[in-house]
Amino acid sequence: MTSSAQSELVLPDGFLMGAATSAHQVEGNNTGSDWWAFENRPDTFVSEPSGDAADSFHRWPEDMDLLRELGFNSYRFSIEWARIEPVQGRVSRAALAHYRDMVRGAIERGLTPVVTLHHFTCPQWFHARGGWAAPDSADVFAQYTRTALDVLRAGVKYVATINEPNMVALMTALYRRAAEKGADDADDAGAAAGFASVEPATDVTQALIRAHHAATEVLHEAGLGLQVGWTVANQVYQAEPGAEDVAAAYAFPREDVFLEAARGDDWIGVQAYTRHLIGVDGPLPVPQGAETTLTGWEWYPEALGEAVRHTVDVVGPGVPVMVTENGIATGDDERRIDYTTRALKSLAAVMADGIDVRGYLHWSALDNYEWGTFRPTFGLIAVDPDTFARTPKESARRLGALARSGRIPHAPAAALSAR
Ligand code: BGC
Repeated sequence: MTSSAQSELVLPDGFLMGAATSAHQVEGNNTGSDWWAFENRPDTFVSEPSGDAADSFHRWPEDMDLLRELGFNSYRFSIEWARIEPVQGRVSRAALAHYRDMVRGAIERGLTPVVTLHHFTCPQWFHARGGWAAPDSADVFAQYTRTALDVLRAGVKYVATINEPNMVALMTALYRRAAEKGADDADDAGAAAGFASVEPATDVTQALIRAHHAATEVLHEAGLGLQVGWTVANQVYQAEPGAEDVAAAYAFPREDVFLEAARGDDWIGVQAYTRHLIGVDGPLPVPQGAETTLTGWEWYPEALGEAVRHTVDVVGPGVPVMVTENGIATGDDERRIDYTTRALKSLAAVMADGIDVRGYLHWSALDNYEWGTFRPTFGLIAVDPDTFARTPKESARRLGALARSGRIPHAPAAALSAR
């Protein structure tokens, strides 16, 4: 790959540039899912239920039209297990047809679909039988994966089995603690800071890894040439001087164990938003005076390049990287443009060093339901909550223009480190 000028990096042929969503966050009325049940209970951290979300269940053709018109060549979306298998063993042919239409719709528009099988939500029946902690959860997931082949056959190449398994294991630990303490303390589960106060649920970690491997086998055996991976939340743990061992021990169950499980996969999804500082006594708060986003995370765009490097260090160089999420919750689109520009520069730097990166999928295509609230707006495209009218933001036009040009900004390394 060559840099045409010092300030740009030419993307390799076939590089995917697009945006991402997940079913529950944009479709609306995902009534058979565990999250729908959770968010409609009175005793949780949820401040508003997902309701109609962005109504993408009906408006996906418009969403894809916009992405294509903006200049993108890829769309990552998830298919919803709770719709496909509303009762264990009973498959909705209509739901399968719906998602097949989406796959075909993407391809017709020149958008390579990247399809996630599981993005945080499960059918209520799966939750009721013990969720991931049930002894046969991996087999049950593999069976759903077999069913999902009917959608993938419509022309999918890239499949993500499970989104952010590391966050699933952490969320399970938070829910378990909330359940032990009683409903009054269920608020705990919502606080982002809560993640630092629990250890990921080890049984669930192991079940998720088994499920990923079982699903991967099903997908490979289908003989469709599917390229299979999973997408891990990269927290970019940075050790303060002297805290290197503490940081490594902290990171292992929260991230690296899931990256190690991706050795031998066809690709690995990197999802990065910010960094987390670790001191000798453990995680530290966001540095005083640092700019934060609507999710309370430090504004730290270089997280992306650092996450890619860390991922490759753990998984090994033989597994190509796909950036499956990167973005910022902000009401100020100028900050989104600045963030994305710097994040892309950090990505260009790792690519210029020879790391094999196959795509960049921004989170998110649309303003959507951020797990309990619509307030943190991550979208390149705004959505009116009453009319569902879509309005692309300037950031969408800028990123789309880069996609069309096949180039991304590239600062010389010295400039990056001098920030
Ligand atoms: C998830 C998304 C979420 C985003 C921003 C990731 O953790 O995959 O569902 O909306 O980050 O929080």
